[in-house]
This record gives sequence, structure tokens and C-alpha cells, in this order.
Amino acid sequence: MGYDKQQATEEFVRWSESYDRCILQWLLFGPSHRALIRRIWERFGDRPIRVLDAGCGTGQFGEKILEALPNAQVFGMDLVAEMLQGGARRWASHQDALMPVQGDSEHLPFASGSFDVVTCANSFHHYPDQQRAVTEMHRVLKPGGRLMLVDGYRDAPWGWFIYDVCVETVEGNVHHCSRARMRDLFANAGFVETEQTVHRGPAPFLLTEGLARSATTLGRPHFAVAPAQVRQSSGTR
Ligand SMILES: C[S@@+](CC[C@H](N)C(=O)[O-])C[C@H]1O[C@@H](n2cnc3c(N)ncnc32)[C@H](O)[C@@H]1O
Repeated sequence: MGYDKQQATEEFVRWSESYDRCILQWLLFGPSHRALIRRIWERFGDRPIRVLDAGCGTGQFGEKILEALPNAQVFGMDLVAEMLQGGARRWASHQDALMPVQGDSEHLPFASGSFDVVTCANSFHHYPDQQRAVTEMHRVLKPGGRLMLVDGYRDAPWGWFIYDVCVETVEGNVHHCSRARMRDLFANAGFVETEQTVHRGPAPFLLTEGLARSATTLGRPHFAVAPAQVRQSSGTR
């Protein structure tokens, strides 16, 4: 049976209260966030960049980006309003530097060419149409912008056991991509110079990074969001 957004919503509504305290913060999410921040820093230094964090959860990673790169402006976008609500204090304390948006990674609510960086951490396996999501991420990047996507690495036996056996038992029919499949998704979306790095450890993960060559003509923007509307639509203030 396929996996759908209703299942994702139900899972994360349940998880939203305890999400920031769960053991995966230590095992997987924290290490993957550090790897992404190192990569953003290597590419952009402390330049004033606009970042979209797709599938941002409670905004923890967005806040870490700001701590490391104070000149960045981060939009955190998530499908599930309760996850955004879980970070209500976080969004409020950073004002315009860190803004929540409720939306779907397969239909990004931003105009084409809006961001220097799109990050997506530990969320991609929940997307029923993964090609659509990567194509949308390419669309909203400026030419020369970068998509940095982290998800569980399932190609080696330990990763396969964790993600394809244990995680699927708990979360249902989610899909962790193989390394080769992820490369294909990036290439099909128009990314060039795709680089992949495997991070080993108790919960291995794959970081895939692609360079957006040009604004794609695929897909029109669904709507452009101004900062004031963003706050209202998220309902977290
Ligand atoms: C495991 S959490 C990861 C949160 C955060 N990126 C982190 O690393 O801590 C996965 C998140 O993806 C979100 N999500 C699932 N499907 C989504 C979709 N189609 N569009 C946007 N977000 C989605 C969930 O609501 C959840 O907050």
C-alpha cells in the first residue's frame, strides 16, 4: 500500500508535542543538521542568503542555521500546522529572520527563483511524489542556488535494516531513496554538479547537494508569499 500525506499528517500531529525531546535528535537529526550547516558555510560563508528549509518540523534546524550564519534569513515550511506550533516561541523570538510557512514540499508556496539555498532534512522519505518535490525545490532556487537534502542512507546493510525495516514498521510505507535514485531525481529536475556524501554512524545518512543551473520553466508558482502573510497563514503567532 502507498504512503500518503494524511498518514504523514497524523504521524506528526501525534509527534509534535514530544518531537524536540525525542532520542532521534541525538542519534540522527542533530548530526545531520551539523553536516548541513557545515556545507552551507563552505558554500556561502556568512553572506546574507535566503534559505528555505522544507519539512522544517518545529524549526530547530532553522534556528541552528541562524546561530551559525546570523546574516541568513530562513523560511521554515512544513505540511503540519501542529509541528510549526511546536516551535511557536522559536519563530517569535527571531522575528523576520526565521519565518514559518505552512505548505507542501510538492507544491512550494513561493515564486520561482526566491532562494539561495533549499535544505530538506529527514523529511524527504515522507513525500509520495519525490520527483515533484525536487523539481519544485529547483524551481524556487535562484540560478546558482543549491539544494542540500539529507535523508536516511539505506544502501548498506545496517542502513537498510534501520530505514527499510525498522522505520517502515513504525511509519508505514515511506520511501528512503537509494543513492543512485536520488542522483536521478536531481538530474531530472535540472540540477548539475550533484555531490553525495554518506555520513556513517548509528543512524547513517546521505547528504545530496545539487547546483541549480537556471530557473526552470517547469511549473508555475502556486502563489508568492509576502512575510506578513506568512505569519498569518502559519497560525503560529
Ligand atoms: C522527521 S521530521 C524532520 C523535521 C526537521 N526537518 C528536522 O530535521 O528536525 C519530518 C517533517 O516533514 C514534514 N512533512 C511530511 N510531509 C511533508 C510534505 N509533503 N511537505 C512538507 N513537510 C512535510 C513533517 O510534518 C515533519 O515535520
